[in-house]
Amino acid sequence: MERTLSIIKPDATLRNITGKVNAMIEDAGLKIVAQKRIRLTKEQAEEFYDVHKDKVFFPNLVEFMTSGPVVVQVLEADNAVELYRKIMGATNPAVAEEGTIRKTYALSIDKNTVHGSDSLENAKREIEFFFSHVEIDH
Ligand code: CMP
Repeated sequence: MERTLSIIKPDATLRNITGKVNAMIEDAGLKIVAQKRIRLTKEQAEEFYDVHKDKVFFPNLVEFMTSGPVVVQVLEADNAVELYRKIMGATNPAVAEEGTIRKTYALSIDKNTVHGSDSLENAKREIEFFFSHVEIDH
């Protein structure tokens, strides 16, 4: 069993579609083993997305991710990292495959509804960033 970190982004909490996103996650066979709704501070968003700090889109990214509440989640399945990336679809919804979360719900490359860890190593770091072990169903 593998775990990955998911964030349902402010564009989705704003539109009240977190349940619809969760349904797609569960229908794909990923189990939501931890979940909480929080509001990120600027400092937390900057730290979480530290790998992107030199990118041109970084200021926009931090502004958007702090513009409303997010739902952070730990998802579990065999091959969870790759499975979640597959059902999220491409970062840019314009090129995401039909049936993916981003093709279905994302509004733009910024307002793209969900984040998922891109590797097992990053999943571990990102899960530890948001959750203590007592908050995760074992
Ligand atoms: P996410 O998976 O949360 O990781 C970083 C985010 O930056 C990404 O989703 C996008 O929402 C956002 N972003 C904005 N512009 C770009 C870009 N050109 N390339 C990659 N990510 C981008």
